[in-house]
Amino acid sequence: AFMDVLTEPLYILPDCSIFSCRPVQGFCFPFFTPTGRRSYASEIDQIGSKAVLITGCDSGFGFSLAKHLHSKGFIVFAGCLFKDKGEAGSQELDNMKSERMRTIQLNVCNSQETERAVEHVGASLKDPQKGLWGLVNNAGVSTFGDIEFTSMETYKEVAEVNLWGTVQTTKAFLPLIRRAKGRVVNISSMMGRMGSPARSSYCITKFGVEAFSDCLRYEMHPQGVKVCVVEPGNFIGATNLYTPERIKAIAEKMWKEIPEIVRKDYGRKYFDEQIAKMESYCNSGSPDTSPVINSITHALTSSSPYARYHPMDYYWWLRVQIMTHMPAAISDRIYIY
Ligand SMILES: NC(=O)c1ccc[n+]([C@@H]2O[C@H](COP(=O)([O-])OP(=O)(O)OC[C@H]3O[C@@H](n4cnc5c(N)ncnc54)[C@H](OP(=O)(O)O)[C@@H]3O)[C@@H](O)[C@H]2O)c1
Repeated sequence: AFMDVLTEPLYILPDCSIFSCRPVQGFCFPFFTPTGRRSYASEIDQIGSKAVLITGCDSGFGFSLAKHLHSKGFIVFAGCLFKDKGEAGSQELDNMKSERMRTIQLNVCNSQETERAVEHVGASLKDPQKGLWGLVNNAGVSTFGDIEFTSMETYKEVAEVNLWGTVQTTKAFLPLIRRAKGRVVNISSMMGRMGSPARSSYCITKFGVEAFSDCLRYEMHPQGVKVCVVEPGNFIGATNLYTPERIKAIAEKMWKEIPEIVRKDYGRKYFDEQIAKMESYCNSGSPDTSPVINSITHALTSSSPYARYHPMDYYWWLRVQIMTHMPAAISDRIYIY
C-alpha cells in the first residue's frame, strides 16, 4: 500500500484552507513558515499604481492570469503572440475595454517585437522612472517523443520559445523592472526539476529556465528585485499546451521524420504505445488552474515571496521530492523502471 501511495497518481488537491499561512501552495507544511512573513497579510502596497507584463496571454495560464491580475487592480500589459491576427484570446481581453488591460503584440522569439514592447510599455507608464513592477515569463510550447524520435529542429524550436524567449524578454525588461525594484516570475514546470522519458525536448528548456532564474535571483538580490519560479504540475486539461489534435499532428510528423533504422528498431507498436501514454497523461491533468494563478499572484504581491512555487497535486509533489532528493538507484526504481 505504501508503494501505491508513491506510484499511483491521485488527482486530488489537498484542502488548502487549513494551511492558512501558505494559502497558495498545493501541498505545504505550515509549521515551516512563520505566520505573517509569507502570507497575504504582508502584501505589497498600492497595487493600483503598479503595472505587470505577462507573455503568452492568448490562452491558458497567461489569459487567466491577465484577467485575474486586472481584477486585483494591476495595470496589465498582456503580450499576445497573435494580437496582430486578432486571435480570440487577445480580442476577448481587448473587449474588456478597460484602461488597465492593454494587449500588445509580442512574439518572445522576435527581438524587434520585444524592443517595440519595451518602448511601448516604457512610454505608457505614468512615471517611467518608477519602472515596471512585474514581468511574468509565461509564453511556452511543448512537445514529446523519445530522444531518438525527436529531430534537432524540434529541440531548437522548443528552446527558442521556452528558454531563449525567456532570456531575451527578461534582459529587455530588466532596466524597467530594476527601477521599480520589482519582480520577475518565470513559469517553469515540474519538468524543470526532474527528467521524464519522452519529454527531453521540453525538460531541457525548463531546466534551463530554472538555472537562469537562480542566477538572476542571485544577481538581482542586491538590486532589490525578487525573482520567483513557478513549477506547475499537470494542468494540461485546462490549457492549450496539448490538445488531442496537437498530439495527433506531432505523432504523424514525428513518425515520418524518424530515421529508417530507428523506425525499424523500435517498431510502430512501441511508437503507438508511447503516443497512447501521452494521450492518457494529457487527459489526467487538473482542470482547475487556480493553484497556478494564485502562486503567480503571491509571487507578485507578497512582500516576502518564495523562490519556488509548486502548484501541483499530491502525487506529482511527492514524485518531485523523491526524484530530486533520493539516490537515483531508488527513485528510478520507484518511478521509471
Ligand atoms: N499546462 C500545464 O500543465 C503546464 C505545466 C507546467 C508548465 N506549463 C507552462 O505554463 C506556461 C503556459 O502554458 P499553458 O499551459 O497555459 O499553455 P497554452 O495555453 O498553450 O499557453 C501558452 C501561450 O504561449 C503562447 N506562445 C507560444 N509561442 C509563443 C511565442 N513565441 N511568443 C509569445 N507567446 C507564445 C501561446 O500562443 P498560441 O496559443 O497562439 O500558440 C499560448 O497563448 C508555459 O510556459 C508552459 O510550459 C504548463
